[in-house]
Amino acid sequence: MATFDVIVIGGGPGGYVCAIRAAQLGLTAAVVERDKLGGVCVNVGCIPSKALLHSAYVANLVNHDAKDFGVEVGGVTLNFGTAMKHSRQVADQNSKGVEFLMKKNKITVIKGEGTLVPGRKVKVGTETHSATKAVVIATGTRVKGIPQIGLEINKTTVISSDEALFLEQAPKTLAIVGAGAVGTEFADIFNAFGAKVTLIEALPRMLPVEDADSSAAIARSFKKRGIDVLVGAKVKSATVGNAGVTLEVESGGKTQIIEVEKVLMAAGRALNTQNLGLEAAGVQLDQRGFVKVGPDLRTTADGVYCIGDVAGPPMLAHKGSREGLVVAETIAGKKPHAIRYDNVPSVTYCHPEVASIGLTEDQCKEKKLDYVVGKFALTANGRARATNETEGFVKIIKDKKYGEILGAHIVASHASEMIHELAVARENEYTVEEVDLAIHAHPTLSEAVAEAALDSLGRMIHA
Ligand code: NAI
Repeated sequence: MATFDVIVIGGGPGGYVCAIRAAQLGLTAAVVERDKLGGVCVNVGCIPSKALLHSAYVANLVNHDAKDFGVEVGGVTLNFGTAMKHSRQVADQNSKGVEFLMKKNKITVIKGEGTLVPGRKVKVGTETHSATKAVVIATGTRVKGIPQIGLEINKTTVISSDEALFLEQAPKTLAIVGAGAVGTEFADIFNAFGAKVTLIEALPRMLPVEDADSSAAIARSFKKRGIDVLVGAKVKSATVGNAGVTLEVESGGKTQIIEVEKVLMAAGRALNTQNLGLEAAGVQLDQRGFVKVGPDLRTTADGVYCIGDVAGPPMLAHKGSREGLVVAETIAGKKPHAIRYDNVPSVTYCHPEVASIGLTEDQCKEKKLDYVVGKFALTANGRARATNETEGFVKIIKDKKYGEILGAHIVASHASEMIHELAVARENEYTVEEVDLAIHAHPTLSEAVAEAALDSLGRMIHA
């Protein structure tokens, strides 16, 4: 049994960042982790998938665009096994990086399943450790199937992202259930490596939480690449065999039979709130199953905090990390800047990328806001033309009276990098005029941000 100031259960991007900040503030910290440090994000999520998406980008570049740039490549061979090897190496490197950071910050890593014990204690195996100041729950989520329609994950023909990130070969045919971030990113990857992909989404459009214009742009791009996108689609039945799966899918009033080698489940994730001793420790859940937290992320149990996916949406790594920082500072007696949950950027890393912040146009309509849209298409951006990456746009929604940025939506090859200008602008309540006043280097994709700002003022230059 050991005593620490802070014990964090879960070593993902929420938990490990919280422990580092606590250590920086002079607290002794321990992280309890049953698997690899870095959690889902580093090992079977954000990081390895980004490596595979880059392989997909290179495959498409070499197969389709390289000749336009004066580079003719003959006899192209796609080797998914090599792409996967690179992806695994990157994930392992990052996990080792987190291990290094734990050592550097003198954080104790306790291997095993942690269970809360009343009185700020955590049991791991036969040992019970005490926290003098706080216990932080940062246990994240796990994959899930939909057994009700016969789609239980069996790890061979019905897989999740956990298995998709270890496949040695791309399947020849793949159905993906769910066109959120996971489904959309894997559709991009497997299509580039030769799979016939059918993307099945229950709601009326893919990436349904994004602005309708972003969903439409990606759907168009995917269809052009031969990905079948079925929206408003319902899997009515699934027959799972050893060599493949037969799906009966209803969409647009028609029922079709889809036979595939594998089905990838991407219809959301399950919260890791079971077997944690929450109830006995007095930690309550809300109606949706998230841990109930106050504005400072305190749970209903004294000295127990909760961060990341289990603390509520948006279920994104960077939101969890920010909560980790804030909780560590609160525990250390500081008064951290409150998190603006309405200003968390969201990115889907398909090609082109989709990034957003703030309200969608539909949400502005629902809220009956008086708004103006500024939009700039990348077909008119010199840098985008130079790299043949003219699919997409920048869309800024501003408040009509004050020019405040209500929401911003970007579809572009580097949307994930471009969105932060607008995140900083919104954090500091800059107006669209102030975004344009900052001189944007030429030629860059970011000029499209300034142009969209100008468009909302009725004075776009390149249109
Ligand atoms: P999600 O909840 O974002 O999307 C799931 C999609 O599946 C939804 O569009 C939903 O309408 C659809 N769906 C649900 N049931 C269905 C059914 N029976 N048939 C057809 N479609 C169905 O979940 P996802 O994509 O699995 O991601 C899990 C979490 O991880 C999310 O919170 C997501 O934001 C996060 N994530 C973020 C990434 C990023 O930031 N780039 C990448 C991957 C995941």
